[in-house]
Amino acid sequence: MILGIESSCDETAAAVVRSGRHLLAGVVASQIALHSPYGGVVPELASREHLRSVLPVTRAAMEKAGLAYQDVDAVAVTSGPGLAGALLTGVSFAKSLAWALGKPLIAVNHIEGHIHAVLLEESERASRDVEFPVLALVVSGGHTHLFLAERRGTSWHYRNVGHTRDDAAGEAFDKTAKLLGLGYPGGPVIDRLARFGDAKAVKFTFAQLKHSARQTSKRAAVANEDGPRFDFSYSGIKTAVLRHVELHEMFPAIEERHHALMSIAKPTDEDYRGLCDQHTLDLIASFQAAVVGDLTKRTLAACEEFGVRTLLVTGGVAANSALRASFEKQGARRGLRVCFPSRGMSTDNAAMIAAAAYPKFLAGEFAGMDLTAEANLKLR
Ligand code: KG4
Ligand code: ZN
Repeated sequence: MILGIESSCDETAAAVVRSGRHLLAGVVASQIALHSPYGGVVPELASREHLRSVLPVTRAAMEKAGLAYQDVDAVAVTSGPGLAGALLTGVSFAKSLAWALGKPLIAVNHIEGHIHAVLLEESERASRDVEFPVLALVVSGGHTHLFLAERRGTSWHYRNVGHTRDDAAGEAFDKTAKLLGLGYPGGPVIDRLARFGDAKAVKFTFAQLKHSARQTSKRAAVANEDGPRFDFSYSGIKTAVLRHVELHEMFPAIEERHHALMSIAKPTDEDYRGLCDQHTLDLIASFQAAVVGDLTKRTLAACEEFGVRTLLVTGGVAANSALRASFEKQGARRGLRVCFPSRGMSTDNAAMIAAAAYPKFLAGEFAGMDLTAEANLKLR
């Protein structure tokens, strides 16, 4: 019975998972309303809000699971990557709790958590076990990573075979939405508005990224990241959207939209749509189609290179309808099994942290009381 705690960005979450595969209770307190006026996460505000929420959220999860603290076998916590102050709140809380209960503490990498969000739900569904080789695309506000995942005994091991060289895909969604006056977070709004626009209206192109093994840096080679790579880049498309906006003098309308949306407490889909002209909807649809197309193309090229049998697509952007449809269609064409988490499990939560901790529990991989937050923690 593992209690998981997550506080790496703008969600405070606690969950209890039994044997790594049965979610007993999960509670998520989102800070979206707090950060929304700023068009992005404000780190200092995030830390303070985690501090306020972590205990009530944990109590709520324990109550929902119908457990007493002594029923818990270990406390797992996200130790990185993420915002240092935000992570530190969860880490300090989990350490205190584990120490007070005399239970082991387990440190979990947030990215590994996203991968286990899919594995948890796959095993809950009691469907077939995943077939190896397994490739995971972790695509969120902070990450766009490709990992080959391997299971040795009960432990999981990862090899990074691709990452973004600049912005993460979710960051591109968020920055584009902010630029168009649509608020934060941008992904869900763009997802809902894109269906009303013409995805072929604006043409976006992506740079060719060179990946030969010889070109990888010494540091990457040392980190066992040599070999074929499938990197991404999403800062260019953000600039291209900005150019389009400047060229078509869209700023006055954007300003108006921004103010109108700020005056509505909880804008509905109709509010958003009513405040966007067809040109804007077309731009949104074209942006989404371009990002989805690029993510699909590069990921499937990696699947082909490594003879992948199962593809896990996870992280906040995996909630995107067009992304899901694209991978499902292309995967089916290639006989590739593609697994997504449910939408609620795509974005940050603590069930994925508790699930990722289970193999570490079995292997006795416990953290000491000197555990600290690591903003740039790498996954191996
Ligand atoms: O995994 P997550 O909750 O936090 C990070 O680890 O970053 O992901 C949040 C990101 C945000 O950038 C958000 O805009 C994006 O996921 N996102 C979406 C959708 N829902 C959330 N992006 C595209 N379409 C969506 N439906
Ligand atoms: Zn995340």
